[in-house]
Amino acid sequence: MASVTSSRPFHLIIFGASGFTGQFVVQEVARCAAESPGGSPLKWAVAGRSRQRLEEVLKHAAERLSMPELTTDIDIIVADVSIEESLSIMCQQGLVILNCVGPYRFYGEPVVKACVENGAHYIDICGEPQFLERMQLEYHTKALDRGVYVIGSCGFDSIPADLGILYTNRQFRGTLTAVESFLNISSGPKGASGHDATWQSAVYGFADSRSLRQLRKKFGHKPLPVVGAKVHKRGFVFFSKEIEQYVIPFMGSDPSVVKRTQRFLYEEEHHSPVQYSAYVGVGGIFSLVKLFCGGLLFWFMVKFSLGRRLLTTVTTSVTHHRHYVTSTFFAVFMFCSITHSGELVITSVRNNVSVSVNKMVDHEQSPAKGGIRIQECYGKGTPLVLTKVGCLDDVLRVRPLCQGDLKMSVGRVQ
Ligand SMILES: NC(=O)c1ccc[n+]([C@@H]2O[C@H](COP(=O)([O-])OP(=O)(O)OC[C@H]3O[C@@H](n4cnc5c(N)ncnc54)[C@H](OP(=O)(O)O)[C@@H]3O)[C@@H](O)[C@H]2O)c1
Repeated sequence: MASVTSSRPFHLIIFGASGFTGQFVVQEVARCAAESPGGSPLKWAVAGRSRQRLEEVLKHAAERLSMPELTTDIDIIVADVSIEESLSIMCQQGLVILNCVGPYRFYGEPVVKACVENGAHYIDICGEPQFLERMQLEYHTKALDRGVYVIGSCGFDSIPADLGILYTNRQFRGTLTAVESFLNISSGPKGASGHDATWQSAVYGFADSRSLRQLRKKFGHKPLPVVGAKVHKRGFVFFSKEIEQYVIPFMGSDPSVVKRTQRFLYEEEHHSPVQYSAYVGVGGIFSLVKLFCGGLLFWFMVKFSLGRRLLTTVTTSVTHHRHYVTSTFFAVFMFCSITHSGELVITSVRNNVSVSVNKMVDHEQSPAKGGIRIQECYGKGTPLVLTKVGCLDDVLRVRPLCQGDLKMSVGRVQ
C-alpha cells in the first residue's frame, strides 16, 4: 500500500459521504478497513459540505457496525464543489478521492480538476457516459502528465459489465469475440427504487443525448476491428429466451465503458477487441406495455425544461429506505462467442463499490503512469481486481455452464 505522509495523511477520502450512496460506501470502507490483515491499516476520512451531516453519517455507521471508534477516529473534511479552494485542500490530503457527489454532469468536473492539479487519484461511481467521456477528452493528457489516475464508473455502472467481460475472457482458451449481456433486476415486495441524484442523471442525460454524439466525434476514433462473426443489433424490444422475459437495450454507461476498455486494450495492449451489446429485462407483456407508456411520456417530457423540472421535482418526495437496497438485487447474464468453441457463461455480480478503492490504494501495482483509466487498465496482471477485496465469493459468483443454447454465432474455429 502506498504510504501516507504528514502532508497527505489519508489513503482514501470519501467525498459526498453524506449522500444516499456515500453512506453505504462509508460503511463498506469501514468494514473493509477493519477486516484488512495486519501491516499498514487503511487511513481514511469522510468529506462533504456539511460537518454536521458527516458526523451523523459516522454516528450511524458506528451504531450499525458496532464500531464506536468511527465517531472519534475518522476525520472529517469540509469541502464544497462550488468552493475551489476547499476542493484543493481536500485533494492535497488524500492519495485517492472517491467522489460520490452527483449528478456528475453538474458537480463532477471541479473534483476531477482538483484531483489532477493536486496529485490525488480520482474514483467515482458515475453512470453518465457524457461526463465520463468528456473527462477523458479534457483531462487525460493532464492526468497523464501528473501521474494521476482518473477512474470512473466504479459502481453498478459499470464494473459488472466491464470486469464481467474480462473475467469471461479468461475462462476460455480461445478468443472471446462478442458478448451480449442481459441485466435482470429483482426487487422485494415493495418494489425497487432509484435515488434522486440517479434519477436526475437519467433525466438530464436523456435530454442531452445529442451532445454525446457530438462529443464522440471529437475523439476521431477509427472503428474497432470486428473479430469473429459480426454481432447484429437486435430489435428495440424482443423476447429473450436467455432470461425468459422481454428485454430492451440497456441505456446506462455499460456499453460506453466497455467500449473504452476494449479500445484501450486493443490500442495499447494489442488484445483482440470484444463486441458488446447490453440489454435489460423488463418482465412480461404487462410490464412491457407499462414501460412503453411511461417511456413515451418520459421521452416527451425530458425534451422541455418544464418537463425536466416536473420530472425532477416530483421525485424529490420519494422516500428511500435501506430495505429497497437490501431487497433488490441484480444478475448480469453474459452470453459469449469465442473462436474455438461455444460455451455459455453466466456471470452474476453484485455490490462492487469497494473494488477499485482497494486496488487504487495498492499503488505500487499500477501498470501505467496515470491518465483516464477504465477499471481494467488498473487491474492489469491480476486475475480480477475484485479478488483484492478478499471476498470474491460474495462479490462475484461465476458459473460456467457448458451447455448448448448459444444465442450468438460462433466465429472461425482456430
Ligand atoms: N454507478 C452506480 O452504480 C451508482 C449507484 C448509485 C449512485 N450513483 C450516482 O452517484 C451519485 C450520487 O447519488 P446519491 O443517490 O448518493 O445522491 P445524493 O443522496 O443526492 O447525494 C449527493 C451527495 O452530494 C453532496 N453534494 C451535493 N452538492 C454538493 C456540493 N456543492 N458540494 C459538496 N457536496 C455536495 C451531497 O451533500 P449533502 O448531504 O450535504 O447534501 C450528498 O452527499 C449520482 O450521480 C448517482 O447517479 C451511481
